[in-house]
Amino acid sequence: MSNRFTRRRFIASAGAAASVALGSSIFNLESVWAAPVTRRNLGGMAAGDPVLVSYRKAIKAMKALPTSNPLSWNYQAAIHRTTLSGSFPAWNTCQHGTHFFCSWHRMYLYWWERIIRKMSGDPGWALPYWDYHDPSQRTLPVPFRDPKSELYVADPNRGTGWNTGSASFPASHVDPSAGMAEFDYFLGQGDIESNPHNNVHGDIGGWMGGVPTAAQDPVFYVHHSNIDRYWNLWLAQGGGRHNPLSDTTWKGQTYTFFNESGTAVTMTPCDVLRCAEQLNYTYEGEPTEVKEYCLRLIFPWWIFVIAQVLIPWPGPPVELGEREVAVPIDIAQIRERIPALLQNKNERLVIELNNVVSERAPGVVWEVYLGAPPNTALSAESPHFLGTMTLFAAGVREHAHGGFQPAHFTFNANRAIEAALRTRQEKLPLVFVPTGPLIDGKPSHPKVQSPVRIGAINVAIGRNEERKSDAPIVPEREPNKPK
Ligand code: C2O
Repeated sequence: MSNRFTRRRFIASAGAAASVALGSSIFNLESVWAAPVTRRNLGGMAAGDPVLVSYRKAIKAMKALPTSNPLSWNYQAAIHRTTLSGSFPAWNTCQHGTHFFCSWHRMYLYWWERIIRKMSGDPGWALPYWDYHDPSQRTLPVPFRDPKSELYVADPNRGTGWNTGSASFPASHVDPSAGMAEFDYFLGQGDIESNPHNNVHGDIGGWMGGVPTAAQDPVFYVHHSNIDRYWNLWLAQGGGRHNPLSDTTWKGQTYTFFNESGTAVTMTPCDVLRCAEQLNYTYEGEPTEVKEYCLRLIFPWWIFVIAQVLIPWPGPPVELGEREVAVPIDIAQIRERIPALLQNKNERLVIELNNVVSERAPGVVWEVYLGAPPNTALSAESPHFLGTMTLFAAGVREHAHGGFQPAHFTFNANRAIEAALRTRQEKLPLVFVPTGPLIDGKPSHPKVQSPVRIGAINVAIGRNEERKSDAPIVPEREPNKPK
C-alpha cells in the first residue's frame, strides 16, 4: 500500500506543475517518468485494492473494443499467440525456447501495462506479480476466482480446482533455484522458462496450458510479471552473471508492439536492460538495479557449454504417457571417472534430453529422477530428483508457428549421481513421473492429453567457461527511454 500512496502523491504534485505545459493530456507521461512505478507483490492483495480495481476496469474497456484495435483485449492477447484467424501486425510473435524468451516478454508486458494505464484511466498503474514460490501463494489468487470479476476465467478454461482454491502448485513445480544458480544467461533463462514458467502454465491448464490461448487469462500477466522479476533477481546475484552483451544477434533483434495511442513501436533487448532506468518500473522488495549497458562490455563473463558427451543413449526414442517410465542408464564405462568429475569446480555431469516432442500440450508436468534404487519412494526432496519437464511451446507440434522446434532440457546430475554411486547399481534408472497440481494438498494424477517422445538422452560433461570477445558492439538507440 505505502508504495502506491507515495507515488500517487508524487504524481499529483508533479502533475500540477506539468499540466500547464502539457494541456489536457489524460496520460501525463512526464509525471510517470519522474519516478519509477512499483510492481507490487500480489500476495494478500485485496480484491478492492486500487491496482485490481483498475485492472478490471481496463479489461472491461479493452474487451469492448473490436479485435482489429491494437488496444483491445483480443489484439493484445493475439500479440502473444492466438487461435483467431486473420493476421494483424505483431500477432503471434511470442518467443519461447529461443534466446529472446525474457526480453520479448519484458517488452510485451511493458507496452501492455501502458495500455492498461490508458484504458483504466490510472496513469500510475503497475502490474503486480504472483510470487508462487512463496508457500502462502501457491493457490490461484482469490481476486481471480470471483465469477463476477473481469479477472475470472470459467472452467474448463482453467484446470480443475484452481477457481475453487483446492488446486495448488507442488513446491517442486515452482522452484526457480536451478535457473538462479546458473552463471550463463541463456542457460539460466532456459531453466527459468522451464521451472517455474512452463510448470505454472501446465499446472493451471485450460487457456494457460496452451500458448495460443494463454494470454487471454488475466492471470497470465501476473505470472509473467514474476518471471520478469526473476531476470532482475538473477542478475542482482552477481558472481559474473551478465546479460548477453557480447551477443550481437541478441542485441540487434527488433520486435514490434503497440503503444497506448495504438501506434506501432519497436524495441530491441538493448532497450529493456534496466527496468527502473529505461522502463520506469521496479519490483517491490527487489535489490538495487544492476545497470548494464549495450555500449559497455564486461569481461570476462560465463557461458555454459556441453564439453563432452559421455554416454549417448543407445535405445529407441522414449515414449512418456500415463505411467511412470524408467530408462536404465549404464554408467559402467565412466564409473571410474566419476569421483574426479564430481570434484571439478567448473565442470558437472548433466543429463541432456534432446528432441523432446509431443503433438499437443501434454497437460502434465514430468518429475525426473536419476539413480533411485528400485522400490524407493520418489519425492522431490530426495537427492535423486533432477527437476521437472513441461512442454509448453517448444516441442508442441500443434503450437508451432512457422518453424517447429523440438524442446531440449538439461539437468544438473552431480547430486543424483553421487547418491546413486553409494547404492552400487550397475544401471541408474532415469525415471519420469507424470504429476499435476496438488488437489487439497494431495498429489493428483492428471490425464496425459498427448504423449511425449524423447528422441535422445545423453549423460554429458557441462562446463562453465570464461569468455572474452571483441565482437562488434551494437550501440544503444537514442533515446533510451521509449516515448
Ligand atoms: Cu509466452 Cu508464459 O508464455
